[in-house]
Formats: sequence, C-alpha cells, structure tokens
Amino acid sequence: MASRTVKAPWKVFGLMSQLSAPIVAAPMNGVSGPELASSVAQAGGLGFIGAGMVKDAKDLHRDFKRAVELNGGSESRLGIGLVGFTGSWLVDTAISLRPHALWISFGDYQEAAAKIKKSSIPLMIMVQSVEEALKAGDLDADAIVAQGSESGGHGCGPTSTLCFVPEVIDALQQAGKGHIPVLAAGGIADGRQMAAALALGAAGAVVGTRFAVTKESMLSEAKKQRYVAAKAADTQRVRIYDDLGALDWPVGIDGRIIANAFTSAHGTATLTEEEQQKTAKEEIAKATQDGNLDVVPLWCGAGIGLIHSVESAEDAFNAIWSGARARLGALADAYL
Ligand SMILES: Cc1cc2nc3c(=O)[nH]c(=O)nc-3n(C[C@H](O)[C@H](O)[C@H](O)COP(=O)(O)O)c2cc1C
Repeated sequence: MASRTVKAPWKVFGLMSQLSAPIVAAPMNGVSGPELASSVAQAGGLGFIGAGMVKDAKDLHRDFKRAVELNGGSESRLGIGLVGFTGSWLVDTAISLRPHALWISFGDYQEAAAKIKKSSIPLMIMVQSVEEALKAGDLDADAIVAQGSESGGHGCGPTSTLCFVPEVIDALQQAGKGHIPVLAAGGIADGRQMAAALALGAAGAVVGTRFAVTKESMLSEAKKQRYVAAKAADTQRVRIYDDLGALDWPVGIDGRIIANAFTSAHGTATLTEEEQQKTAKEEIAKATQDGNLDVVPLWCGAGIGLIHSVESAEDAFNAIWSGARARLGALADAYL
C-alpha cells in the first residue's frame, strides 16, 4: 500500500471531531462499564457505558465518574447509552453528567430525545427501519446508527447491514437530512468489514461484540471463552427470554445470542403452555444464579467467527482501524 495520510472526513461532524478513528464502542448493558468505555476513549474512539437498565441514579453517577477518572479526568469521548423505555429520571441523570454523547434506542424515545437536544449534548439514535431513521432525522439526531440484523444484542430489523446502511443514507438524503452522519452497526468485527461500511457511505462503525470480548468488558472469563469458541452459524435471533419474562423488552424486539442447550431444547418460538413457561422461567432464574452458560443468553453478533482471542480494547480498536485503512489502501492501489 502506498503511504497515505488520514484525511479524517468524520471530523467534520461535531460529535466525531475528537475521534482519531470513526469507531464507536456500543453501549452494552452489563458488558460495557467504565473500564471498557474509558479504554476505547483513550484509544481515540467513542466509548459508551451501557446504562439502559440502570435501576438507581447513584449507580450511573458512580460508573460515569469512574470512567472520567480513568479517562484522565475528561468526559471527552465518553458516552452514555439509554433505551427508550426507561424512566425519565434516568435521562435526567445522564444529562446531568454531561457526557460527550447520549445514545438512545428502542421504545418510545421522542420525549427523551427532545430533552437531550435541549441540553445540547450530542444525540445518537439507533434505528432498525427506514421509517425510524426518518423519524430520528426529524428529531434532529446528531448521528443515526443503522443497526443491521447481524447485530449482537437486542434489535428488530430484518435487513442486513450491507443493505440497510445505504438504504438509510439514501432515504435521509432524499428527505433533506443528508447532513446527518449514519454509522453502521451489526456484525462489524474487523477492518475489512469496517472498510466495507465506509464504502457504503457510513461515517463510521459501531462495534459491540468485538469489544464485549475484550479484557476490559464486564463479562466473566468463562463467558468470553464461549464467545471465542463460537462461529457465526452458532448465533441465532431469539425472543424466548423476553417472552418468558426473564427480560423485560417490548414486544417486537428480539436479540441475537449464541445458541445454547436451552434454546435448542425450547426452540426460538414462544412457549404457549403455562406449565412449560413456569418451568422454563425457573430454569433461567436458577441458571442466572449458578452462572450456567448453557441456559443464560450470551448476546452476540454474527461477526463472532472473526474474533479469536480476548485482547485489550485498545488492541481491538487499533486492529480494526489499521485493518480498515490497509484494506481501503489496497483497494485504491488495485482499482484506481
Ligand atoms: C452483549 C451486548 C449487549 C448489548 N446491549 C445493548 C444495550 O444495552 N443497548 C443498546 O442500545 N444496544 C445494545 N447492544 C447492541 C449494540 O448497540 C449494537 O447494535 C451491536 O452490538 C452491533 O452489532 P455487533 O455486536 O455485531 O457489533 C448490545 C450488543 C451486545 C453484543
């Protein structure tokens, strides 16, 4: 590859002007805490704390303060991720902490989005349909995350990242909202895929699963080893945990996990018999207590087959970015 300097086109967007590479570590409930978010921020990306399920304002205060401390006393490049169906007190708490950015996804977030915009903290909205992307445009989001079906964790879009990202970009363009940066999320675990996302017109990549399998993530070592051993074909989108009430996500939203003994036994469909439901619920509750990885859900994107070890978040960040640049350079050399 010819030696090239980075022109950093993402820096024109206020939200991304302080990033050394357009890589965002997704907010992941119970996975991305202060250590992971601050390591990504220190590496030059935007690192989110997954706070959507926080039950007490004190916990978010503590976690964000810790992240700031680890980030050299700065809020720069540290974000807080929320979901649309949590209480407005959590939105107020997150705003009061003045993070670099706030992220919101799922549920009805119109009111929360308006509050965040009023606070002048940059707002990122994750969407799974073109209609939702246009709504996010109307809410004046500072960036829109287009989440494809390869994504780990919760989602609801049937469309792959490869098809969904350009469709969202075109729709926003046609609606006169082409100035809003669109970031690609779903299955992106290495530099080749990031290069592909940039080729689609994305302003950057949102990466979840690869950062979940880093030293700084909150997952246990045993869970991380399950991820390292998994391949794309081991993952599947399921709704059973939510339908059983083990989780509390709105109807219509499912999630990609590593298939396990529990999902093999019960399939992906909702259990209809009351007795079956009761037994399965008890099984999940016990497994959660015992840490039984054959039953509890391990949220995981389809890019998992490209993740071969547990590395530091900084190494993951650098590998994705240098890999993307190498691939883009090689393509330019070969085709231009
Ligand atoms: C373990 C895990 C937990 C997640 N938790 C959340 C969450 O709390 N809030 C949210 O908006 N997205 C969550 N996501 C989805 C991410 O925002 C993102 O869309 C996804 O990770 C991108 O796909 P990838 O995992 O293949 O990189 C989670 C993803 C994973 C893998």
